[in-house]
Amino acid sequence: MKMNNFEKTIMNSSARVLFLDRFEAPLLRSLGGDLQGLRVLEIGCGQGHSTKRLIEQFGATSVVAIDLDEDSVRKARRNLSALSPHHQVQLLVEDVSALNMPDHSFDAVVDFAALHHVPNWQQALSEISRVLKPGGRFLFEEVTRQWLNRWFARTFLLHPKENRFNAEEFVAEFGRLGFTLTGELVKKRKGDFIFGCAIKATTTIPRSSSR
Ligand SMILES: C[S@@+](CC[C@H](N)C(=O)[O-])C[C@H]1O[C@@H](n2cnc3c(N)ncnc32)[C@H](O)[C@@H]1O
Repeated sequence: MKMNNFEKTIMNSSARVLFLDRFEAPLLRSLGGDLQGLRVLEIGCGQGHSTKRLIEQFGATSVVAIDLDEDSVRKARRNLSALSPHHQVQLLVEDVSALNMPDHSFDAVVDFAALHHVPNWQQALSEISRVLKPGGRFLFEEVTRQWLNRWFARTFLLHPKENRFNAEEFVAEFGRLGFTLTGELVKKRKGDFIFGCAIKATTTIPRSSSR
């Protein structure tokens, strides 16, 4: 689900970009590590501010960044046009719930606060798992239903009404997909926001046999 104009204005304001630069990106970098030399997929890149941090702070040199919103992707192309040709950045209009990409094609997938906009976020996580190589990393910053249920979000912002997740439900999906958290799940504002990094299993998990 696309952001409404009010959320777009907030997310792309200089105050929020400063917060992304000084707080969100460094915290995720500390949990997920360097991305230099890796093929990275960013889901829900918006107008490219988080994509720029992947290059500047995570050391990424090869990024495919997708967003559902054509207007945001167009602005991201403009915002990232000054990057050196050394950086391979591809910006595409795509839905994370149905990725038009081959299996096992990325070393890392990064989610800067996109999945809470996706009605079937479990399907989106399955897609992320499908395109990640075994042993690949999934770095995430997410917004839980605790925050989505707060007055400000309910009044001014637009999010899926059903199937919202809390921290525990989000992490529980990792078990289904064979992901393991690499370290702690960081909760901010008492669980309104979560940050973490998970690794995809290198071998297929055998299904338990029925007796
Ligand atoms: C809160 S914004 C975050 C934007 C950017 N990552 C940032 O940190 O500035 C969430 C973004 O996810 C995008 N989005 C929502 N649903 C999506 C979907 N199904 N597939 C891809 N992108 C989606 C929205 O259009 C929006 O740009």
